[in-house]
Amino acid sequence: MVAVAILAAGRGTRMKSSLPKVLHSVGGKSMVERVLDGVADLNPSHQLIVVGFGQDQVKAALAHIPGLTFVEQREQLGTGHAVQQLIPHLEGFDGDLLVLNGDVPLLRPETIQTMVTTHQEKGNAATLLTAQFTDPTGYGRVFCADQDLITEIIEHRDCNPAQRQNPRINAGIYCFNWAQLMTVLPHLSADNDQQEYYLTDVVKDLAPAMALDVADGQEIFGINSRKHLAEAYAILQDRIKDYWMATGVTLIDPGSTTIDTTVQIAPDVVIEPQTHLRGKTFVGTGSRIGPGSLIENSQIGAHATIAFSVVSDSTVGRGARVGPYAHLRGEAGVGEGCRIGNFVEIKKATLGAGTNVAHLSYLGDATLGNKVNVGAGTITANYDGYQKHQTVIGDRTKTGSNSVLVAPVTIGNDVTIAAGSVVRKDAPDNCLVVSRAPQKNHEGWQPRHLREEKE
Ligand code: UD1
Ligand code: CA
Repeated sequence: MVAVAILAAGRGTRMKSSLPKVLHSVGGKSMVERVLDGVADLNPSHQLIVVGFGQDQVKAALAHIPGLTFVEQREQLGTGHAVQQLIPHLEGFDGDLLVLNGDVPLLRPETIQTMVTTHQEKGNAATLLTAQFTDPTGYGRVFCADQDLITEIIEHRDCNPAQRQNPRINAGIYCFNWAQLMTVLPHLSADNDQQEYYLTDVVKDLAPAMALDVADGQEIFGINSRKHLAEAYAILQDRIKDYWMATGVTLIDPGSTTIDTTVQIAPDVVIEPQTHLRGKTFVGTGSRIGPGSLIENSQIGAHATIAFSVVSDSTVGRGARVGPYAHLRGEAGVGEGCRIGNFVEIKKATLGAGTNVAHLSYLGDATLGNKVNVGAGTITANYDGYQKHQTVIGDRTKTGSNSVLVAPVTIGNDVTIAAGSVVRKDAPDNCLVVSRAPQKNHEGWQPRHLREEKE
């Protein structure tokens, strides 16, 4: 049985923020949520979050996650003091306690699993994740006897110059046999540079206490500053991009591309430079996205192309071509094989298969059939100042250039709308709609200045 505790009570002074450190987000998700994601596979018996600084904010931010117990640490007297607050919640608990720092968000679930398994198989009293860093500055140093058995952990600031040479660092991720931890945890002292109760002090009184080096040191990167936050984001991005490239996605210029963890991409997709894929986005096989595009919470079908465009909360059908400079938003639904061209905005409008909106249009709150041709500059006037209204256009209908469709309005199938029309009334199938001032030619007319010259 494994109980999980996440230490999230600290202020994170070096962040220089009114937001508690663990709520700062890395790649669209808060650090503490990332830590929670990392332990989900363990099916923990308890999920205890130690909160203190900004606890109302932390609780509110995690309110949507079931099964969490918030444990208050009124004063932040150190990581050991934080774990002491768990004692009343784990009375009679007969298992292992996994302690994670809330500011170590890049840990992989497999690493945590390996650590817990090793801990249990070896029958350790304590198992700690460690790493060998070329620049261990700031971390606690782990000193071992033979076979990775820990003798002592000394915080960077408490180390003498010789001790600082030790490259082996404490990741802040611990697995304890709870009963054994309870023999030492209540007796910590704050005899150190910061006058804090250090969790790390328990290990010298626990045996066996084992250090386990992580294969990938980046996983245990602890965030203490805004600079670290940006570095963590870069590490996360590298991981995500390496993953997608390994599954058969081409990233022309990974350095200029960002992809959220929540995105799914099929093989043989090509992502061009300066492209950003965010939220719950899916891109189907054979599609080419970018250059210069932002796709958020959208479903892109197979073999679509999207260039220099923004697509949010929308669907693009198979083989559709979007851009350059198109903006799809608010549940736009572009059908198979559609062509959406330059300077076109589509909001909450559905387009059937093979419909073209090639230039300079706004379609909002509209439903278009199949193979409609929307002429350059066609606008749906969907808003009367206080309400939005619907425009419906049937199959194979053609709107002339610069038509204005004043909603609510319904146009049938196979209709042709003359260029420059202002359409305010419904039109049946198979008709020509002309709604504009008739043309008058004033023969012999001259501009006033020419007339005056002659007088
Ligand atoms: C800690 C470790 C250090 C390790 C490093 C790894 C101790 C004494 N030191 O140092 O050996 O190398 O993590 O990142 O544990 N917190 C509380 N209550 C408190 C103090 C801290 O909940 O009273 C929480 C913080 O919110 C944070 C975590 O504990 O999530 C770690 O605290 P932090 O002050 O960042 O510890 P470090 O100095 O980084
Ligand atoms: Ca830290």
